[in-house]
Amino acid sequence: METILDIKNVSKIYQSGNHSLTVLDDINLSISKGDTVAITGPSGSGKTTLLGLCAGLDRSTTGSVTLNGTALDSLSEDQRAAVRNQYVGFIFQNFQLLPTLTALENVMVPLELRGSKNSRAQALDLLGKVGLADRAAHYPVQLSGGEQQRVSLARAFSNQPALLFADEPTGNLDAETSEKIIKLLFDLNTDAGTTLVIVTHDLDLAARTNRIIKIKGGQIIANESPTYV
Ligand SMILES: Nc1ncnc2c1ncn2[C@@H]1O[C@H](COP(=O)(O)OP(=O)(O)OP(=O)(O)O)[C@@H](O)[C@H]1O
Ligand SMILES: [Mg+2]
Repeated sequence: METILDIKNVSKIYQSGNHSLTVLDDINLSISKGDTVAITGPSGSGKTTLLGLCAGLDRSTTGSVTLNGTALDSLSEDQRAAVRNQYVGFIFQNFQLLPTLTALENVMVPLELRGSKNSRAQALDLLGKVGLADRAAHYPVQLSGGEQQRVSLARAFSNQPALLFADEPTGNLDAETSEKIIKLLFDLNTDAGTTLVIVTHDLDLAARTNRIIKIKGGQIIANESPTYV
């Protein structure tokens, strides 16, 4: 199968004064196009950091990240942003909605960046899919945590990414809404072949993916298919 994401010998080390903190330690990982992968592990183990590196939001200290055939390491900030806009959707753990824009406008941003002619109608449709058609005009502060998370989801879906990263996408949702969102995610995989990489503490969600990667202390301690667990 074709590889869409290839991570080789990646580490992330933060320096503060004369201390260095190794957050990711020699990670190797390869993900095939159309695959569904869950990343699990304790708080602070490096999951969000790893996702950010995979998506080209951040740079690794050592090693290489190749996304859809493009080595991200040698690219400038702007070049990485262009790759992200073309291939990547990202649902942030802390949502990262733009506070001065309404829910609708937040979802319209990536569509407009791609030159969509009917971004408003498309964004409304996406908000409808996450059950927020009646909150389109609300600003992020006027939305609950779960609602902000769903706007973040709609925004991540909007440019039909080849690769969708989701950092605890159901972390703030009740069971019923969570189930709807999970269905949306997996429908994208089935219908559009979107590769899913999902950080989650939800073992039921993890069990629905093809592969579960466990991280501890910045290292991969397991990388297996749930059917063999
Ligand atoms: N900019 C930074 N500078 C220094 N340390 C950082 C920085 N960002 C993250 N860390 C540290 O890296 C470690 C991993 O953080 P990360 O956010 O990747 O964990 P996580 O597995 O996503 O945890 P959680 O489940 O709580 O979201 C943490 O110990 C954190 O304190
Ligand atoms: Mg995290």
